[in-house]
Amino acid sequence: MESIVLDYTNISDVMTDDELSQLQPEVEKAFQTTLQKIGAGSDFLGWVSLPKEVTDDFLQDVQQTAKDLRTKSDIIISIGIGGSYLGAKAVIEALQGPFGGHRADDVPMLFAGQNVSSWYMHDMLQLLDGKDFSLIVISKSGTTTEPGLAFRILKNALEEKYGKDGAKGRIVAITDKSRGALKQLATDEGYKTYVIPDDVGGRFSVLTPVGLLPIACAGIDIQKFVNGFKAMDDTLTNETDLTKNPALAYAAIRSLLYRKGKKIELLVNFEPALHSISEWWKQLFGESEGKDGKALFPASVDFTTDLHSMGQLIQDGERTLFETFVIVSKSRHSVLIPHDDKNLDGLNYLEGKNLDAINFSAYQGTTLAHRDGGAPSMTIELPDITPCYIGQLLYFFEIAVAVSGYMLDVNPFNQPGVEAYKKNMFALLGKSGFEADNEALTKRIQGMQAKRIGA
Ligand code: PA5
Repeated sequence: MESIVLDYTNISDVMTDDELSQLQPEVEKAFQTTLQKIGAGSDFLGWVSLPKEVTDDFLQDVQQTAKDLRTKSDIIISIGIGGSYLGAKAVIEALQGPFGGHRADDVPMLFAGQNVSSWYMHDMLQLLDGKDFSLIVISKSGTTTEPGLAFRILKNALEEKYGKDGAKGRIVAITDKSRGALKQLATDEGYKTYVIPDDVGGRFSVLTPVGLLPIACAGIDIQKFVNGFKAMDDTLTNETDLTKNPALAYAAIRSLLYRKGKKIELLVNFEPALHSISEWWKQLFGESEGKDGKALFPASVDFTTDLHSMGQLIQDGERTLFETFVIVSKSRHSVLIPHDDKNLDGLNYLEGKNLDAINFSAYQGTTLAHRDGGAPSMTIELPDITPCYIGQLLYFFEIAVAVSGYMLDVNPFNQPGVEAYKKNMFALLGKSGFEADNEALTKRIQGMQAKRIGA
């Protein structure tokens, strides 16, 4: 089986091979710390060994549950936020393709609980009208406000349609084995339940039921997806030489570029279906590394689309960014440019060419232009977009972020900063236990000198 390749040719202007090799001891230490689960946040390193631990029985059970939900639903809704949402969305979108979810045998998967918009929820409820639907509710803590609210509203709609007993058979809860409101509710109501292991944090949980059940519900072969993780585990975990291990090289290069003053890493794709892979990647790197006043800012663009919006800045703006391209080696379809007798658009020189070949030229031209403009880049070459290669890609990034996070000297597995907004929101909403904060915040808001322009 082919594997992911990291091409760092276009970094050469800002980094020598010697500089990279000098990082070997540091990279190796970070890698061993990860594999042996002995560093900061080591109680959240369960994801490292998941590829070896997923059993056939477990996968069959998940597939059976997915089959059951698919059989009785016109629409399935997966409720969750952050790590309880982004992995499944990314994988489903990548594998269903640009207009996926709307083919004859597809059961569309919608996502809820990732925002608090009444417009979003109102329109979702309208979409569900007259349809058979089921819910997957995902929250490790079981106490997160956004999915909690969405579940309450959607469960009401489900119970109104099917009655309490009928609704039960259409809800699957994925949560902690013993703690949290969702666990309590699932036990009381008798929902089918899956457990998120204690030692796997949200953003690393795509290989648990958090990712696997929604992905299976979308009709994707989760065995092949798991095989991709296993294959990447074999490739990476037995190779400590960073010049032979693409995830270690990627972690080392981005760390070096950060130390050399780069502030932003842009993940770039040339395939619309990969858009949400970038969203997943942003959480993985942003939440793992962005602490203690440090970290590259993970941003993303979709090319060639964004070459016409962000291209100017990338080519010519402040020189604090670099790019990581994700390109797909295999052409998926042959879509040839037709001849036009008049050739008023001047495009006959492309006659007979496949769109993918033009896309590839756009990629090559872009990397060279950006390199010349002072925006270096790496490329992750994905042999194809299949469940197996997407699995490989996700595990590649998971290993890379752990190594890169340890090289940054942060705990890559916590997210203390996420609590700050929650505390303020709970206080402002009048949650019990937050009375003092409510008073302090209300006074602060009232005492602030408003600076507003416009009617
Ligand atoms: O990666 C993380 O830990 C977070 O993004 C969580 O997944 C997110 O906050 C949702 O948490 P929970 O699954 O507890 O509802």
